[in-house]
Amino acid sequence: MIVRVFVTYDIPDKGIKMLIEHGCEVDVYKGEEFLPKEEMIKRAADADALITQLRDQVDREFVYSLKKTKIIANYAVGYNNIDVDAAKERGIYVTNTPGVLTEATADIAFALLLAVARRIVEADRFVREGKFVGWKPKLFLGYDLFGKTLGIVGMGRIGQAVARRALGFGMNIVYHNRRRLPEHIERQYHAKYLSLEELMKVSDFITIHTPLTKETYHLIDGEKISLMKPTAILVNTARGPVVDEQALYEALKEGRIAGAGFDVYENEPELTPGLEKLNNVVLLPHIGSATYETRERMSEMVALNIIDVMEGRIPRNLVYEI
Ligand code: GLV
Ligand code: GLV
Repeated sequence: MIVRVFVTYDIPDKGIKMLIEHGCEVDVYKGEEFLPKEEMIKRAADADALITQLRDQVDREFVYSLKKTKIIANYAVGYNNIDVDAAKERGIYVTNTPGVLTEATADIAFALLLAVARRIVEADRFVREGKFVGWKPKLFLGYDLFGKTLGIVGMGRIGQAVARRALGFGMNIVYHNRRRLPEHIERQYHAKYLSLEELMKVSDFITIHTPLTKETYHLIDGEKISLMKPTAILVNTARGPVVDEQALYEALKEGRIAGAGFDVYENEPELTPGLEKLNNVVLLPHIGSATYETRERMSEMVALNIIDVMEGRIPRNLVYEI
């Protein structure tokens, strides 16, 4: 039997090669523009396996249009773009790429913390515009990270990787998580568990690392933002809708908080109008896992999950319990 794999957007080669070596027929959409949903559905209909991207809305309609598909391997750790319940109903496995992008994403969270706190992007622009006429005592003053309190919202793999970096920078760590972590892990990071409200109040920096679920939609809403210190900075490298972006924009615009770093947006790729005009924000195009090494490992991982299914095993990164 020929196993047909449809890849909705071109990904690094490694996994594609592995699938071909395993005898799969791999159909990779190579266009630059995203495939319209109807076309995606058409090309996916006869595929035994799909490799999807986090921006593909694999909703109930899509899932129910699949005729032969046994596995949807999402090329991402987050899988809020897939109707997992519908897939489960139809006996289709859904897998993700946990673990391999933890360090790369933690790096981007930290890069944003530093970039906002030290006004890196603004300062770069200033030099390019020929405005640098010499050292000045008050030129581009920002905030220290050293000695400050970092609030980590979502203390999973990525949150903990950020905590390791923060320790090296001499920060105090507080965190909030759905479930409190075992004491030995808290001790490892000198991390103190707080309610989300407390965390918002005491943190100088806040970084978001929760998945997007019904429970975390607008977890950081206007009310939570209003608890932040006027000198505080918030960074989101998780999923846009975890934060009420309009409320955050208003707080930034009115100077109620000091700054924010975005790698993700509530209505990605759209920004809340006006966000791009603010100086106290750094805006990235969802590049948390965008390193050569990580994207290659993610490619390998989606392939391994598909090969698991071809060979009659339960895929290693199944996102739901059977
Ligand atoms: C990226 O956002 C991912 O979920 O992998
Ligand atoms: C991602 O790897 C996470 O679950 O934190």
